[in-house]
Formats: sequence, structure tokens, C-alpha cells
Amino acid sequence: MSDLVRFGISLEKDLLDKFDALIRRRKYTNRSEAIRDLIRQELLKKEWEEDREIAGAITYIYDHHQRDLLNKIIDVQHDFQDVIQSSQHIHIDHHTCLEIVAVKGNSRAVSSLADTLKAIKGVKHGALSVSGTGKIK
Ligand code: NI
Repeated sequence: MSDLVRFGISLEKDLLDKFDALIRRRKYTNRSEAIRDLIRQELLKKEWEEDREIAGAITYIYDHHQRDLLNKIIDVQHDFQDVIQSSQHIHIDHHTCLEIVAVKGNSRAVSSLADTLKAIKGVKHGALSVSGTGKIK
């Protein structure tokens, strides 16, 4: 772990009260951890904007009975094989499948894959969750 540095922050009481209420709702045990997470989020956003390498997961559901849908999804996954690390298929019920695709690559390629999958007719609730690659401590 890198060295811890302490620093003070001055801000209006109203703003601090709102921040404290927010971090209580989000289950943070102290302000430091909440501020650390905010900073990490901003750094991750910057990596995203600069098309740096990111990692995450794309999740979506679909009805596997829908004609040609499975083939289209598989075609797209093959087109992005350099970005896809693994995928997991879960049968939710008789019709519905859930897929979780683990991804690692430049943010532009990862978001292009997520957008392409979400745009396939019949793919529902597509979402990309980004976790970074762990370089931001
Ligand atoms: Ni299935």
C-alpha cells in the first residue's frame, strides 16, 4: 500500500451535511473512504475519456427462442474476441437467458461492443459496468 497522506478540506456546513447524509445512505463508514472512492471514480472517468485500457462486464438478457438472435449475438462476440475475456450463460427460465460477458480493452472498443450487443433487436436490459484495471489504487 502506498503512503497515506493527510490533508484538510474546507467547505460550507450545508454542503458537508449533504455529503454526510449521502455517504450514510451509501453505507460508507467514514468520509475518507467516500472521498477516496469519488477520486477513483473521477480518475476512471479520465481513463475512459482518454481511451485507456479498462475492464468490466456487459450483462444482458434475451429470449433464446427468438429467430436468429443467438446467431447474431455469437457473430458479434466473435467480432470482438480480442476484447472478450470470458462469457457466462445462465438460463433464467424457459424463454429467458442472461449473459455476463467479461471484457478488457480500450474503452472505445469495450463501449463499441456493449453498444453493438444492446442494439441487437431482442437484446434487453443491456448494461456495461466498468471496474478499471486496478491501476488506480
Ligand atoms: Ni439459456
